[in-house]
Amino acid sequence: MQRFEGKYAIATGGTDGITKESIIYMGREGLSGAIIAGRNEKRGIKAAEEIKNLTGCECYYVQTDVSKPEDIVNLFKVAKMKFPTIHILINGAGVCPSMPIEAVDAQEWDRVMNTNLRSMHLCILEALKFMKPQNYGKIINISSAAGRIGGTESSIAYAASKGGMITATKCYAKEYGVYNINVNGICPGAIRTNMISNFNYTSAPENLIKQIIPLGRLGKVEDCSGVIAFLASNDSDYITGCSIDVNGGVFMN
Ligand SMILES: NC(=O)c1ccc[n+]([C@@H]2O[C@H](COP(=O)([O-])OP(=O)(O)OC[C@H]3O[C@@H](n4cnc5c(N)ncnc54)[C@H](O)[C@@H]3O)[C@@H](O)[C@H]2O)c1
Repeated sequence: MQRFEGKYAIATGGTDGITKESIIYMGREGLSGAIIAGRNEKRGIKAAEEIKNLTGCECYYVQTDVSKPEDIVNLFKVAKMKFPTIHILINGAGVCPSMPIEAVDAQEWDRVMNTNLRSMHLCILEALKFMKPQNYGKIINISSAAGRIGGTESSIAYAASKGGMITATKCYAKEYGVYNINVNGICPGAIRTNMISNFNYTSAPENLIKQIIPLGRLGKVEDCSGVIAFLASNDSDYITGCSIDVNGGVFMN
């Protein structure tokens, strides 16, 4: 019996990067079904096909803008039609703008908060409708090292949204442990994905990277996917409210 056999997952941001890789990882370990949610239909359909072909997991794409509450409600409505239930929720959708503090006006603040932080809360509210009655759930919130130590190139709104995710993770964990629902997170450092492709440190010279990152390199999506799968599996049944640092040692909690 594989670790994720009989398990069904929803992953926001699952059309790309870290979150897509984590669904592939779990698919290879028997995940029965997954819904990946994102804004770009073409990329989403392609990603769902790729996941299906690589792993055999029954995977669907649902077009979703997580900053829109009605899209989140629709996402879980589709899940209810496609799958018997939902066991795993990965909150992976996020935007990471780079801009000075004084450029972050009310509109920009709300845009980032609604996409990164409010969406996590609204997805969890929907997921609880499945998880509480079945007395089982695994929720993984993808935060960031920026949420612990402040961003370097990422904006203040990004860092604050990710800090909010770390704190909220503990609140959900306290409240829903009694329903056998584990709520955890990861705090990636610099991981090579589209999100940070324009950031200066992705092209920093190797000797500088080696000075800054104890493990001597930027991260890969594969550095995160196994950790996410661990938190989504029964191997982490006695862990809740925790956010695991996946940052090459840049920041040690
Ligand atoms: N790459 C890094 O260095 C790094 C570091 C720390 C944290 N993270 C976090 O990891 C998560 C995954 O990011 P990634 O690095 O894989 O980047 P990515 O750009 O590959 O993935 C982010 C996904 O979120 C989606 N998204 C953005 N806004 C959305 C919206 N309104 N509705 C629906 N989907 C939306 C994007 O389309 C994309 O699919 C993010 O939450 C990010 O903040 C990444």
